[in-house]
Amino acid sequence: MDKKNRKALIAGNWKMNKLASEVPGFWAELGPRAALTQDVESALCVPFPLIPAVKAALADSQIKVGAQDVSSHDKGAYTGEVSAAMLADLGAAYCIIGHSERRAYHAESDELVNAKLKALLGAGIRPIMCCGESLEQRDNQVTLPFVECQIRNGLKDITAQQMSEVVIAYEPIWAIGTGRTATAEQAQEVCGFIRSVLKSMYGQSVADAARVLYGGSMNGKNAAELLAQPDIDGGLIGGASLKIEFADIIGAANEG
Ligand code: PGA
Repeated sequence: MDKKNRKALIAGNWKMNKLASEVPGFWAELGPRAALTQDVESALCVPFPLIPAVKAALADSQIKVGAQDVSSHDKGAYTGEVSAAMLADLGAAYCIIGHSERRAYHAESDELVNAKLKALLGAGIRPIMCCGESLEQRDNQVTLPFVECQIRNGLKDITAQQMSEVVIAYEPIWAIGTGRTATAEQAQEVCGFIRSVLKSMYGQSVADAARVLYGGSMNGKNAAELLAQPDIDGGLIGGASLKIEFADIIGAANEG
């Protein structure tokens, strides 16, 4: 399938930034510049308490609201956790899972990521499942087997039909928040590899239709080159999604 048949996704990851009271002012600036073409989708994945404010701000926009994590449990005695049903109830369309910061600071395993992915699919929320190697792993040339393991474990028991709802984000840990973006060749190599893993798991048509994003210091300046790669279908944007520059990345996707 030609890349043109996959709808690009530009997803912002606000991490633990901004206050609900700051959302209307931010959107007043970003909104007029963030028009989407029919080939591009966009979402802002924000801290849980900000979801209603962002949802309200985006009401007249095609940009969707998303979350950054979810509980693997449906409900019950899990103090501090937020269920997929709660996120769906607030209107979240997407949810990031398995971000390297959660894997590193909360010891999230592939098995937990897999359980969260299933919880999201059960609630009708599209998971954005992150994967990516550390600098040490890259230097030791184990990037591809490591990422393959994350993909296979994270997608355990997921059917070909369910896979159409899942987005994969390749985020090399050494490129996140460091200003050190992967080169377009490095990013394409791993995103293309991920598609080949999906092909071996699900067959050609599912692999062709799957959306694979790149994330890690993507910004208004480098987005166009990254998004032009044949297997990069969008971006997961941290720092630059907190700024009006996010509109430039959407613009680069519109033109791609
Ligand atoms: P960054 O973050 O764009 O600030 O590098 C990306 C991410 O962590 O999703």
